Amino acid sequence: MKNILSAPFLKEFVRTASNMYRLGYDERNGGNISLLVDYDEYKDFVTEGVIREIPLNFDASELIGKAFLVTGTGKYFKNIEYDPEVNLGLIRIGKDGKTAELLWGFVDGSRPTSELPSHLMSHIARLKVNPNNKVVMHCHPGNLIAMTLVEKLDEKSFTKLIWKSNTECIVVFPEGIGVLPWVLCGTNLIGELTAAKMKDYRAVVWANHGIFVVGDTLDEAFGIVETIEKTAQIYMTAKPFGIINTITDAQLLELVKFFKVEKFVKDGWLE
Ligand code: 13P
Ligand code: ZN
Repeated sequence: MKNILSAPFLKEFVRTASNMYRLGYDERNGGNISLLVDYDEYKDFVTEGVIREIPLNFDASELIGKAFLVTGTGKYFKNIEYDPEVNLGLIRIGKDGKTAELLWGFVDGSRPTSELPSHLMSHIARLKVNPNNKVVMHCHPGNLIAMTLVEKLDEKSFTKLIWKSNTECIVVFPEGIGVLPWVLCGTNLIGELTAAKMKDYRAVVWANHGIFVVGDTLDEAFGIVETIEKTAQIYMTAKPFGIINTITDAQLLELVKFFKVEKFVKDGWLE
C-alpha cells in the first residue's frame, strides 16, 4: 500500500489549509474543509477495513458510498501540515446514510468538524446543480466578518458593495454572494439554511462568523474566498474616508458582457 501522505489529493488539501492559515482566515480551530475524493483517488492508500464508525445526526443518504477528506473538530489549521493523520480524516458515508465510516486519520480518536452538517448538506445541494463539485470550505476572514457588522445583510446590496469596489469580483462570482443572518453554528439548521443558499450561490456569508464556499477544486473555492476577502479589505479600508468612486452598473454590465458571464447575473441586479 502506498503512503497516503504522498497522495496528490492529500498534498493539495494540506497546502490549501496552510495557505488559509497563513492568510489569517483560520485562527485557532476556526474553519473546516471537506473534499470529495473518488474511490480511484484513494483506493491505493487505504485498507478496505473501516477503522471506526461515527454517527451523523442527520440524513446523508444522498451521499452513501461517497468519501470525503475532512478536517477534525477542534483541530488547529496551523498544525495540519505537521500532523495530517491527527488533524484530518477520510470518511465514507455508510449504507444507512447516518454513519461516517472512518477509513484513515483522526488517529487520536477525534471526530470530523462540528460543521459536518453544513458541509455534507452543501455537497448534496451543490452536486444537484453541478456534478463536478468536490469542495466545501469554511473559514473566518476578518474584513468580511467586519463588513457584516456594518452593512445590511441583504444579498443584493451586500453583493453590489463588493462588486462595485473591485473590478474582478463580478467576473469571479457573477451569481453574487448569499448572506445568512447570525444562526447558531454547528447545527443542522445552519446546514439546511446554507445548503438552500448553495442552490444559487457558491459563496454564503455567515454574519458575525465567516463564509462557506464551494468549488470543483480546492483552488476554485479558495480563490473565491481570497477575492471576497481582499475586496472586503479594500472596502473597509476606504469606507472611513468616504467612498466617492465606485464601479457603476453600466460598467458592471460591460464587464459581464466582455467576460461572457452575463447569463449568471440574477434578473434585476443590474439596472
Ligand atoms: P470545528 O473545529 O468543529 O471545525 O469548528 C470550527 C468552526 O469554524 C465552527 O464554525
Ligand atoms: Zn466557523
